[in-house]
Amino acid sequence: MSEMKPFRVGLVGFGNIGTGFVRHVISYRDLLSRRIEGGLELAAIADRNLDRKSDVPPPPETKLTTNWKEVTDDPSIDAVVELIGVDRETGRPDAAREVAVAALSSGKHFVTANKGLIATHGAELHAVAEKSGALVLYEATVGAGIPIITALQGALAANRIVSIHGILNGTCNYILTRMAEESELTLHQAIDEAKRLGYAEPNPSSDIEGEDAAYKLAILSSIAFGQELRVSHVRTEGITRLTEKELSFARENGYSLNLLASAYIEPNDEACLHVSPVFLPDTHILASVSNVFNAVLVTGEPGGETMYYGQGAGQFSTASGLLADLIVASRQRRHPEYKPHCFKIPQGGARLIPAEQIIQPHYLRLDLSGRPDLEQKVIEMMPGKLVSSTSSSVSFLIDPISELELERLLEKAERLGVHPEAICHVRFAFTSGKESSE
Ligand code: HSE
Repeated sequence: MSEMKPFRVGLVGFGNIGTGFVRHVISYRDLLSRRIEGGLELAAIADRNLDRKSDVPPPPETKLTTNWKEVTDDPSIDAVVELIGVDRETGRPDAAREVAVAALSSGKHFVTANKGLIATHGAELHAVAEKSGALVLYEATVGAGIPIITALQGALAANRIVSIHGILNGTCNYILTRMAEESELTLHQAIDEAKRLGYAEPNPSSDIEGEDAAYKLAILSSIAFGQELRVSHVRTEGITRLTEKELSFARENGYSLNLLASAYIEPNDEACLHVSPVFLPDTHILASVSNVFNAVLVTGEPGGETMYYGQGAGQFSTASGLLADLIVASRQRRHPEYKPHCFKIPQGGARLIPAEQIIQPHYLRLDLSGRPDLEQKVIEMMPGKLVSSTSSSVSFLIDPISELELERLLEKAERLGVHPEAICHVRFAFTSGKESSE
């Protein structure tokens, strides 16, 4: 066998996660040389701002540039790792998409941790990759180093996946864990604490509004169900309206309160995806996932349940996922015809369960601050069991109703004068929710 040249990697984006990646490449150079024929060479790093201080100096042989095209155009580079995230101005992954298309079109493998990019443009990037023979790999987009994408595409490939339930956002899980531990702690105080500890971004809105988890769920369910499921297909509610009232309901009734991402598919291939706060029976295995940890529970036929757990964010865990993908890509040099991770997502083929067929029990709390006159009217209007009532808020357990009926009920409450943002909604997961209403 001929001796292999080093596998040359270009990094685009040298921020916090990029620094962790470079740190891993340097610290684990020997291990990587054993797992990558010819070893891994960090050929180039591109970043808009190379003056930014990094506590990890790149290896001396690494070329530094502010122009990412010098990485994607360099014919000696085998793979591009993209860590630029979304555009600051628009919140969209437009620049990352340009990098991906340029890299893949020129035959370079493309590895990313950018969930927004893959959830939005994944099918398109797979099509570009297929033409050039390169690979698009994204283990680090969901749960960082937790091997969930590889599991769905590889070890579980012989199963029909019927459901995925995940705690996919570490920031929200940390905030809810802390609020459950300390009943005095408000949501805002818990968010500030998560920021101080470096768990939450300075602007954590994508996390607390559920968008981050929705992107991750769209990626997992597209692979698992073989349909192009997008973030717009995910019914998404965040944790911003939760208060001590929901935590104390959970505590008193044997539940844990979590932001859960759930997807399931019917035998006719219609899928349902939502991200929302849920009451999980505290005996359920996912209820034991606390702090910043993530976990994904997958049910397949005939294999049954499997679960994946670990640190779903951070420099080290993300670098672990990225480098695993690079190791996979490096093996392609010997076996160009072999395509690992080659599940094709058909473009535009999502089939969703109609809203009238999704039937669940629900918890609702209506904040009546400033409108005490509404208390009686709301009680008369709402079906289900009254959990608590004061002149400032009323909460109910609603027996199983369809998603459509729920929407109509909420519209009715709004017509009475309840502000839409004053409605806090929690689903029940893995339970009928009935035990609490009796
Ligand atoms: N902000 C994410 C989280 C990590 O809190 O889980 C990156 O996906």
